[in-house]
Amino acid sequence: MKIALFDTKSYDKSHFEEANKSFGYDIVYFDAALNKHSAIMARGADVVCPFVNCTVDKDVIDILAEEGVKLIALRSAGFNNTDYRYALEKGIKVVRVPAYSPHAVAEHSFALLLALVRKLTHAYVRTREFNFSLSGLVGMDLYGKTMGIVGTGKIGRSAIDIAKGFGMKVLAYDPYPAKIEGVEYTDLSTLLKSSDIVSLYCPLTNDNRHLINGKTLDDMKDTAYIINTSRGGLIDSEALLEALKARKIGGAALDVYEEEAGIFYTDQSDEGIADDTLARLISMPNVIITSHQGYLTKEALMAISETTLSNVKEFEENKPLTNQVK
Ligand code: NAI
Repeated sequence: MKIALFDTKSYDKSHFEEANKSFGYDIVYFDAALNKHSAIMARGADVVCPFVNCTVDKDVIDILAEEGVKLIALRSAGFNNTDYRYALEKGIKVVRVPAYSPHAVAEHSFALLLALVRKLTHAYVRTREFNFSLSGLVGMDLYGKTMGIVGTGKIGRSAIDIAKGFGMKVLAYDPYPAKIEGVEYTDLSTLLKSSDIVSLYCPLTNDNRHLINGKTLDDMKDTAYIINTSRGGLIDSEALLEALKARKIGGAALDVYEEEAGIFYTDQSDEGIADDTLARLISMPNVIITSHQGYLTKEALMAISETTLSNVKEFEENKPLTNQVK
């Protein structure tokens, strides 16, 4: 099996090389993200391995099918970037890594939340300049606050455990509610109105794009913080910026951004960025943005590499595909 791995970073390569010691596949690493311009590079490969900001649309799938690719092995949990129905029509199966470390993402959402409510980014810059003044750094306790969890799957549940550890009250919304001790399920509107912190842990689907928009932001408390470690398209960024400017929301911490493709995972420090909304969000004192790094722990990277290669092995051996996207 020859695997063409797209959008490769040094940490991807080192973890895949380590995992591949027990599989022995021929892996070719490309820096470029998979899109209609780069898809031709899959020539000769049986499997392509895209990441979250690759575009696996009809155009790309047509090229992959023509080049004889048989499997798209996503090395992510989310698959909103992949037209998996069309891929199947063209005879290409799609597999993913449904879970690698839900804790990595849940913990990152709390790292962001704590940094935001305790103004750590400001404090860090100050002390580096030997400015030990505390004015402007008054924070907020998490203890006793209400955390609204949108999506109670693997990552959402890990976040619930953490929130409980902080002594927070947990409200949840999920179209498929589970039974979780100490968690009160409610409708989305009540969750938004009642929460001090709203954190998103649901996938991006055709139905929930801009789940957080001008209207739903209006429903939230003026002091509420919003955390998004799921997918950028869940939030209407323009509406979020307007709400922040109008002080209709307390702050935001985003690990994902709807227009992140082509910006996140790249060094733009020389050129700056052309996306005015993102630039303005970054400039706000009550906004923290990280570059889709929720998953980026060594435990998660190892699990991603091992599961991806196991997915390929199942395909190679004609076994049922445990992690097929259907
Ligand atoms: P999961 O499949 O275990 O759980 C998702 C939950 O969301 C399910 O319980 C589902 O019923 C619920 N859901 C679906 N639509 C919803 C809606 N409209 N409103 C509320 N809940 C809804 O998925 P998991 O592993 O917890 O991951 C969640 C998301 O996190 C992924 O889809 C992905 O977009 C994102 N993610 C982000 C990463 C990062 O590095 N920042 C890394 C991994 C995943």
